[in-house]
Amino acid sequence: MSRMKELAQGDPDTVAGLPGGVKVAFIGAGVMAEAMIAGMLGKGIITPAQVVASHPREDRRQPLSERFNIATVAGNAEAARGADIIFLTIKPQVLDAVMRQLQDVLEPGQVVISVLAGTNFGVLRHGLGHAALVRVMPNTPAQIGEGISVWCCTPEVEPDKRAGIRGMLGALGEEIEVDTEKYVDMATALSGTGPTYVFLMMEALIDAGVHMGFPRRLAEEIVLQTVAGSVAFARDSGKHMAELRNMVTSPGGTSAEAIYQMEKGGLRTVLSKSVYAAYQRTQTLSAQQERTIDRS
Ligand SMILES: NC(=O)c1ccc[n+]([C@@H]2O[C@H](COP(=O)([O-])OP(=O)(O)OC[C@H]3O[C@@H](n4cnc5c(N)ncnc54)[C@H](OP(=O)(O)O)[C@@H]3O)[C@@H](O)[C@H]2O)c1
Repeated sequence: MSRMKELAQGDPDTVAGLPGGVKVAFIGAGVMAEAMIAGMLGKGIITPAQVVASHPREDRRQPLSERFNIATVAGNAEAARGADIIFLTIKPQVLDAVMRQLQDVLEPGQVVISVLAGTNFGVLRHGLGHAALVRVMPNTPAQIGEGISVWCCTPEVEPDKRAGIRGMLGALGEEIEVDTEKYVDMATALSGTGPTYVFLMMEALIDAGVHMGFPRRLAEEIVLQTVAGSVAFARDSGKHMAELRNMVTSPGGTSAEAIYQMEKGGLRTVLSKSVYAAYQRTQTLSAQQERTIDRS
């Protein structure tokens, strides 16, 4: 049985039912890679001995090694060589250079998983000279196993490997496999960028609490639990958001007054435009990368 098949099916001899042999490389260990490493190690889905991360700066490699007890290397090709799964966690600006470093190292049995926003399969296939590819859009709550990853595979990723990847992404929170990469681009705007919208709103609510006279610490606690409780309640009830909102909106009451101001200020429109702007940005990045390919 292949190691990836074991990964998919589970092995009772190991923590979390996963084999000890699968090697996982992170190319460009920044914020997202750190969140994913923390999530996977935290759930025991992989052990530190299975992970290698590359980064050009020693002052980044050292704290990563210390925090996770993982191997870190300066060279991207060195990290990818011999790994079963290679996460591309770099920014698009260095993608071309990194793909050139990896193309001679990659072997058919390896799977490359890209988290890059707006980098489509065509660009990856062309730049890496490799067909077994996955695009995934995670988000930073992956760090505590509460993320959402929307992902899509090329047909060259075999079913047993696909199941193994599902297991890894599942360790980061929810995972949804989609059959077209356009949904990964949409998820980039909705969930990949999503924590930004939520944190900005929470920050604004905390500031509003302080404005009224709450000590900041109290305002933070109240807002955190209001958001956490509302999410749990929405999940549990299964009701439409408008219905939940109506439950706290009595005629002539405080919620009605607040809703009037939010609608007057265009909050709904601003949010919708923000998400759509993020989506358009993804499409622009994608088009720029395709033009670069056409010229090469
Ligand atoms: N952050 C998120 O919430 C999030 C969510 C979903 C998807 N993503 C995607 O994840 C990718 C990484 O984002 P991020 O937020 O983690 O960015 P990041 O923190 O900047 O991580 C990228 C890392 O790559 C390093 N790097 C630069 N040149 C390199 C090279 N030639 N080889 C290897 N590593 C190199 C950077 O080092 P320096 O710091 O020295 O430049 C940086 O530490 C992006 O493509 C983004 O679209 C991010």
